[in-house]
Amino acid sequence: MGRVAGKYAVVIGAGSVGEGWGNGKAAAVLYAREGATVLCVDRNAEAAETTAALIRDEGGAAEVFAGDMTDPGAAQGMAEAARAMGGLDILHFNIGISTPGGVEQTGFADWQKVFAVNLDAAFHCTQAALPLLEQGGGAIVYISSLAGESNGPYRYVGYEASKAALQRLSKSVAIEYAHRGVRANCVLPGMIDTPHAASFIGPGTDPEALAEARAAKVPMGRQGTAWDVAEAALFLASDAAGFVTGVDLRVDGGMGTLFGSAGG
Ligand SMILES: NC(=O)c1ccc[n+]([C@@H]2O[C@H](COP(=O)([O-])OP(=O)(O)OC[C@H]3O[C@@H](n4cnc5c(N)ncnc54)[C@H](O)[C@@H]3O)[C@@H](O)[C@H]2O)c1
Repeated sequence: MGRVAGKYAVVIGAGSVGEGWGNGKAAAVLYAREGATVLCVDRNAEAAETTAALIRDEGGAAEVFAGDMTDPGAAQGMAEAARAMGGLDILHFNIGISTPGGVEQTGFADWQKVFAVNLDAAFHCTQAALPLLEQGGGAIVYISSLAGESNGPYRYVGYEASKAALQRLSKSVAIEYAHRGVRANCVLPGMIDTPHAASFIGPGTDPEALAEARAAKVPMGRQGTAWDVAEAALFLASDAAGFVTGVDLRVDGGMGTLFGSAGG
C-alpha cells in the first residue's frame, strides 16, 4: 500500500523549467508512486504533459490541467478539473519565482510579478480547493523557502517577503480549518539542485562551479535534491502527519539553523 493510496493530489507547477528533476515534477511523480491519482497543473501545458507521461509510463494515474494560477478563474478551473477527476485530498502548491535585488534595486513591477505567483496564486488555489478538501479531510502543502524565514546568501527582497507571507497564509488556513478536517503546512527548501535554481541563480555560470559553491554553503556539504523536498511534502500530505498542522518544515541540510543562529 502506498503512503497516499487512493487519494487525489493536485500539484500546482508539476512541470519543470528545464531538463531533470524540479521540485514540482518530483512531487507529482512521488505522490503517484505512493498511490495517488495526480492532476498535473502548469501554465506550460507541455511541461505538465511531460510529467503526466512519466507517471503513466510507470503505471500511475495522471491528468493535466493547463492554466496560469495567478488568474482566479484558472484556479477555479483547476478545482473543477480536480472534481471531475474524482476529488481533491492533497493540494501541493509548488510555484514560486524570484527577481534579483534588495529594496533599492527592486522595481514595483517586479515586486508585483513575484507576489502574483508566490502569494496571490496560492490564495486563489487555496480558496478554490478548500471546498473540495473539506469534503474528505484534506491537506495542503505549500512550498516556501528558507528565504521566507531568514536572510541567506542571495538578495531578493520580493521573494523573501512573499515567501514569509506564504508561511503566514499557511498558518491562517491551518487554524481556520483545524476543526474542519483540513491541515496546512509548509516545506522550506534550502539549497536544492534543480533546473530552476540553475537557471535563475547562475545564468552563464559553469554548472559544476555553481553546484560546488552552493554545496559549500550547506552544513551537510551538499545540495538537496528535488526528492528530498518531495519526501518531506509527502509526509506532510499523508495520514502519517494527521496531527501536524501549521508547521514550517526545513529541508536544508542544516542551513537554516546556521543562518538563523548567526542572524543572517
Ligand atoms: N531549487 C531551490 O534551490 C529552491 C529553494 C527554495 C525554494 N524553492 C522553491 O521550489 C519551487 C520551485 O520548484 P521547481 O523546481 O518545481 O521550479 P520550476 O521553476 O521548475 O517550476 C515548476 C513549474 O511551475 C510552473 N509555473 C510557474 N508559474 C506558474 C503559474 N503562474 N501558474 C502555473 N504554473 C506555473 C512552470 O511553468 C514550471 O513548469 C518554488 O516555490 C521555489 O521558491 C526552490
